[in-house]
Amino acid sequence: MPKKNIVRKSEVTKLSDNETIQCCIDGQTCPLQVSNLLKKRLFKNENNFYLENFLTEQSIQLKAVLNQCINVGESNSVLVIGPRGSGKSKLVEKTLAELHNENVESFYYVYLSGIYYCYSYSVFFPGIIHTDDKLSLQDMTRQLQLENVTKDKVFGSFSDNLAFVLEALKNGKCTAKSKSIVIVLDEFDCFASHKNQTLLYNLFDITMSQQNPMCVIGITCRLDVVELLEKRVKSRYSHRSILTFPTYDFSTYTDYFKQLLALPDYFDCPIFKYRWNTHVKDLFNSSNFNDILKKQFHITKHIGGIIQLLTIPICNLSYAHPFVTVDDINSSYNSLHADSKSFLMQGLAILELCLIVAAKHVLEKRIGQPFNFEMVYNEYENFSKSCLTGVHISKAVAMKAYEHLLTLELIRSTENQTGNSLAKEFKPMLLYVDASQIRETLANYTDCPTELKNWGDSMFVS
Ligand SMILES: Nc1ncnc2c1ncn2[C@@H]1O[C@H](COP(=O)(O)OP(=O)(O)O)[C@@H](O)[C@H]1O
Ligand SMILES: [Mg+2]
Repeated sequence: MPKKNIVRKSEVTKLSDNETIQCCIDGQTCPLQVSNLLKKRLFKNENNFYLENFLTEQSIQLKAVLNQCINVGESNSVLVIGPRGSGKSKLVEKTLAELHNENVESFYYVYLSGIYYCYSYSVFFPGIIHTDDKLSLQDMTRQLQLENVTKDKVFGSFSDNLAFVLEALKNGKCTAKSKSIVIVLDEFDCFASHKNQTLLYNLFDITMSQQNPMCVIGITCRLDVVELLEKRVKSRYSHRSILTFPTYDFSTYTDYFKQLLALPDYFDCPIFKYRWNTHVKDLFNSSNFNDILKKQFHITKHIGGIIQLLTIPICNLSYAHPFVTVDDINSSYNSLHADSKSFLMQGLAILELCLIVAAKHVLEKRIGQPFNFEMVYNEYENFSKSCLTGVHISKAVAMKAYEHLLTLELIRSTENQTGNSLAKEFKPMLLYVDASQIRETLANYTDCPTELKNWGDSMFVS
């Protein structure tokens, strides 16, 4: 186990300090401190916070591959594949940090990211975007501290430059004593889109030949990533992969949730820490809270999902609102999983809403068979004659509204675009919103006419 360098701010001595006791009692700054600490834990990979028992098996596999490279001098390549937020980067970072602590100075480390900047376990690369092989190589040179070797050289082309750096990498024999190079390619699939896949080809080629030990770790969320590789690149890849798909059950999931929220022993104010941890315990005992967690678990199981759910509640902590409550989590859940169609329908005109309700009524009469504009307009006319006396909307105006619904994809034609010869009034259509979405829209729509509401509600009366 790597030794943690945690400075334990002595709770006993702090408690004997009047100021701290003051802070503990009135708790003015404590909620903000908690908020900052958790923000760093959730959004930045600071203070080396790792969940216990998370991706342990995968970590063991990755460590075995890396150990073979670092200690035995065996080159290798491996792909870490899993959905976004499932902990791929963190897994690589954690395993490398552990190895780094165990074998200091025993390997070089290069981190390249296909899309956006990221934190590595030791270095932060602000905004470096390795969008092509040239930039990747430049940054690789910098990270391997070969700039001094390359700076006086003028390279005629990219391939000369690559050959030179690779030559520098190749120098050295494949023995257990050679210093290995670990190259992490985050967003690996993006590197596959670079011209001729030169970088990938050369890196994999080195791992296949008896040269300086090198381990290439690709991180990606694309399951079909191997198919993106050219034949010559694919044949050099070891076909070793580590999957990070969440397979844990609900109780393990809640355990991770608890770990993410729990305050560490070294938190400055023991009294607030005690209150916070007790509050978190109560939260997990509440059935409402567990219901929300279950819903979230069934949508996304990965850690990224928990972090999304906690983001707003953690950012809103303040002196006036020092603890995360069930309501906070509930509103965060609702805003994360808000129904986009209901939102969209909030912006419709009354006539457009009327046409949606009319289409729903027609569909109910036709038992799910497609409808067309004529049927919907007819239904609407009947409604307006009986309920909206004095309001008459012409067919042309209704058609415009109907076409707007089509553009918003709230209704869609059942035919494909090619070979459809019917006039637009008679095209068979289907409604792409369900009854509960219509009901929600009518309930929340500002100044919705009562007649329309009643007409909408009438379809729920069976
Ligand atoms: N073992 C872990 N310990 C602590 N946090 C973790 C762990 N695994 C993942 N996370 C957190 O989950 C979030 C998503 O993880 P990340 O590695 O970035 O996912 P991915 O690379 O698969 O998209 C990050 O904020 C990370 O800090
Ligand atoms: Mg990542």
